[in-house]
Amino acid sequence: MATELIVGLDLDSKTEALAAVAACGSCRCFKIGSQLFTRCGPEIVREVLGLGKDVFLDLKFHDIPNTVAHAARAATDLGVALFTVHASGGRKMIEAARTAVESTPTRILAVTILTSFDDTAIREELGLHETAAEAVPRLARLAVSSGAHGVVCSAQEIAMVRAAVGPEALIVTPGIRPAWAGRDDQTRVMTPREAAQAGANGIVVVRPILKHPHPAEAIRLILEELNA
Ligand code: C5P
Repeated sequence: MATELIVGLDLDSKTEALAAVAACGSCRCFKIGSQLFTRCGPEIVREVLGLGKDVFLDLKFHDIPNTVAHAARAATDLGVALFTVHASGGRKMIEAARTAVESTPTRILAVTILTSFDDTAIREELGLHETAAEAVPRLARLAVSSGAHGVVCSAQEIAMVRAAVGPEALIVTPGIRPAWAGRDDQTRVMTPREAAQAGANGIVVVRPILKHPHPAEAIRLILEELNA
């Protein structure tokens, strides 16, 4: 299966976001996260969808099942292709989200442990008696067995998550850097090709595209690499 390129619209205004979508004409799917959504609201989602694009709404829902079910329903009503929940919201929360999107094309991705947590923070702040390498596959399995269609994870976690969730679940990964791009603040990166070979269904890329002098050229190079 081809690995899809998702461009993250980590921007502060509708003008910048729509200009980025226009500059990324050959890309089909755009991620809207809490930064742009909090600035512009659901209207920016409608605008991007109105351009014939798919939207991945990355708001990482984490609340009681009833609230997440209503948020999931709102996401499907907007018409997004994908949205995120935290796997740590638990089985009932994810089941409620799944029920809310049943018989719609919208799919749920679960976030396991944020990559900003290291093993010390997982133990001392989250109070888990697990390392990330233990918690990530456990939460991925919980999420998918509760009805999530897939998981968001770092590129380094693709193999362990794939082993945990099986071949059908979607795996979407950020932290991708083509060989020609700078690393910015990302430390453990993979190239688009490496992530595709590791089994990612989608890769999220932001700065290597949006900060490139010619975003369309950056996209062409990444798609060429994904399809090689
Ligand atoms: O610019 P860059 O390609 O590094 O952006 C990566 C995107 O993926 C950003 O939207 C960032 O918030 C998101 N992300 C990440 N690492 C995670 C989860 C999400 O970089 N563990």
